[in-house]
Order: sequence, then structure tokens, then C-alpha cells
Amino acid sequence: MAKRFGAYLAVDNTFCSPYFQNPLEHGADIVVHSVTKYICGHSDVVMGVVCTNDEEIYEQLRFTQNGVGAVPSPFDCYLAHRGLKTLHVRMEAASRNAMAIALFLEHHEGVSKVVYPGLESHPQHGLAKNQQHGFGAMITFYCNGGREQSSIILQSIFTLAESLGAVESLAECPSLMTHASVPDGERVKLGINDTLIRLSVGIESCNDLIDDLNQALNAAVASKKPMFLPQPEPDDADSDIGINIEATEEVEEKGYWDW
Ligand SMILES: Cc1ncc(COP(=O)(O)O)c(C=O)c1O
Repeated sequence: MAKRFGAYLAVDNTFCSPYFQNPLEHGADIVVHSVTKYICGHSDVVMGVVCTNDEEIYEQLRFTQNGVGAVPSPFDCYLAHRGLKTLHVRMEAASRNAMAIALFLEHHEGVSKVVYPGLESHPQHGLAKNQQHGFGAMITFYCNGGREQSSIILQSIFTLAESLGAVESLAECPSLMTHASVPDGERVKLGINDTLIRLSVGIESCNDLIDDLNQALNAAVASKKPMFLPQPEPDDADSDIGINIEATEEVEEKGYWDW
């Protein structure tokens, strides 16, 4: 469509990384990656990259980069280069974890909907299957309840952070964090509400991650159920905390319980 209108097609390929998707092969003119994320993969560099297979675009980008002086430091380049060497291992491990977590979430009573392209329930599952070499490790899900439940979950799992694509799993609430600046009406249209939680799944033990999520979701589910506090017995006139004063006095006298 971009070609028909004489426009360039630019793709932000950060979520897939070059390991899982190569948009230039599918007709894109420009691809950008936040190197900060999967390419570096250890949350210790802030960097970006622009890729193109068009000589004219390349010359323009080179000119702009030279003009504005957008050059990363040698140490950041060293870290990014080192991270890149394990990109394939990290991507495989993270997406394997993500698939297991997405399936787990889909069956938990505390979750109303899971959005992950690896699930058949995703409207573009077929497209992702044909176009990508893997489904990646970014999952979003809606928890049952409201802001209270999502905050219980976010306080109990992983590290709360806006970033993504690192070896460690991260979680965030888009409506209050990454997408807080999107106008309210737009957020409603996009389905970004306070019960939406985004996970960037890392390469830790999958069982540990699922245990964490299970505990957090169970706590959120429990918080919605009414609490039943123990009531004092009706003939406990002497005590308002349910202690049988007579029995206690008897025990004190005899020194043991009479069962
Ligand atoms: C999909 C995507 N692209 C680009 C960026 C920008 O990345 P950076 O933090 O390296 O500027 C982000 C940041 O979160 C992102 O999520």
C-alpha cells in the first residue's frame, strides 16, 4: 500500500528483533530497532539502530547522523556487540517461556483475556506464523477486576518497569506507565485500561515465573471475594473476642484442658 502511494514503509521491529522477523525481506524500506531491548538484552545500554537496503535513504540517514552527532559511546557499542552474540539463544529461551506463560494465563480464573501472537486466539496468529520465525516474548493480558487487582498483581511479580526485551522478566501497566500520555479517548479505543498488564518475559526458569504469576493472580482473585470474619459465640457475653472465660478459668485452676 505504501508503494502505491509513493511512501516509504518504516517498521519498528523491536518486539521481534532481527532474529524473529526481517521486514526488509517483506518489502519495508526502513527498519528501526531499539537496541536497548533485545539486541543488547541486559538493560544496560540505551541505543537505537536504523536499517535500510535503499542506497538513497542510507545516504540521507548518514548525513543526518553526522549532522546531529548521534553517535553512541565506545563502551555502549561494546556492550551492544556482546549482547548481540547471544541474541539467538535469548530469543529462543524467552519465546519458549512466553508460550508456556500465555497458555497458563489463558486458563487462570483471574485472567479475562490474553493477547499473544503465539496463541490461536490471537486474530493475527496466522500472519505471525507465516511472517515471523518465532512469536516473541511480549504478552499482554487483562486481569479480572479493576485497578486494585492489577496493582496487586504488579506488586507481586517480576520487576515493575517500562522497558522490555531483557534477560530478566519485566511487567508494567500500560494505562499508567508507557501509554499514560495517550489521550483518554484513544486509550479506550485501543482497549488500554487499568486491568491491562504487559509482560516482557525473560529467560529465567519458566516454573519460577509461572509460580510467581500464579501466586499474584490468586492474591488478586482472593481480594475480590468477601471476607468472613469469625463472630463471637452468642453466649459469650463476657468476651467480645470469642474467648470462653469460664473454660479458661477452669484450665488455670486444673492446669490442663478437660477434653
Ligand atoms: C517498540 C519500541 N520501539 C522503540 C522504543 C524506544 O526505545 P529506546 O528506549 O531505546 O529509545 C521503545 C521503548 O520502549 C519500544 O517499546
